[in-house]
Amino acid sequence: MKITSAEFVMSNSDVAKCPKNPIPEYAFIGRSNVGKSSLINMLTNRKSLAKTSGRPGKTQLINHFIINNSWYLVDLPGYGYARVSKSSKKTFQKFITNYFEQRQQLVSAFVLVDIRHQPQRIDLDFMQYLGESGIPFGIIFTKADKLKPNAIDRHVNEYCKELLETWEELPPYFITSSTKKMGQEEVLSFIEATNKEIEQLRRE
Ligand code: GTP
Ligand code: MG
Repeated sequence: MKITSAEFVMSNSDVAKCPKNPIPEYAFIGRSNVGKSSLINMLTNRKSLAKTSGRPGKTQLINHFIINNSWYLVDLPGYGYARVSKSSKKTFQKFITNYFEQRQQLVSAFVLVDIRHQPQRIDLDFMQYLGESGIPFGIIFTKADKLKPNAIDRHVNEYCKELLETWEELPPYFITSSTKKMGQEEVLSFIEATNKEIEQLRRE
């Protein structure tokens, strides 16, 4: 997919106030500092469409961006930063769970995980929560530039093996690096194909 336009629409913490257009929406979620905002900039070829920071906790609200005037991309605050709780439900801010449970336009979430790390409880819990809520999701491995190619394969295989302990099948997954512009084509093609499927279903 070629990005012809990418514009900031609005930020807020209330799902009821999110944009009303009935167009497909994709949300990026994951631990603070995993690279959600950087990935959004990389995908859209914009330097600072979404605000990034070396310090965790930069994104604090639900941020809507409209892409090619036809679909929304949503940057969300990270979870797991300065919060201690064993229960995932309590760990995830209420307005975030409201967003996932109430946002009609949401087509798919992308859960971002740092490719360097072992599967983390909090990420697995969030995927579990999405599954139980009936929300489709894909996994985006971030910061692949930090590993050598054989280590990338090893880490991804280990991650998939762990997922198959609890999931019957693997979700779609993508290996990305925002600094090296890796995985842009794959993620955008997935979104484009999904948008086409939705368009097709609407016509039927
Ligand atoms: P919060 O909004 O705080 O939840 O963080 P975030 O997930 O949006 O992360 P952000 O995009 O702000 O990036 C966090 C840090 O990771 C920044 O210092 C980025 O420069 C760095 N970073 C993001 N993506 C990559 C990547 O692909 N490779 C490398 N090496 N660093 C990255
Ligand atoms: Mg952010």
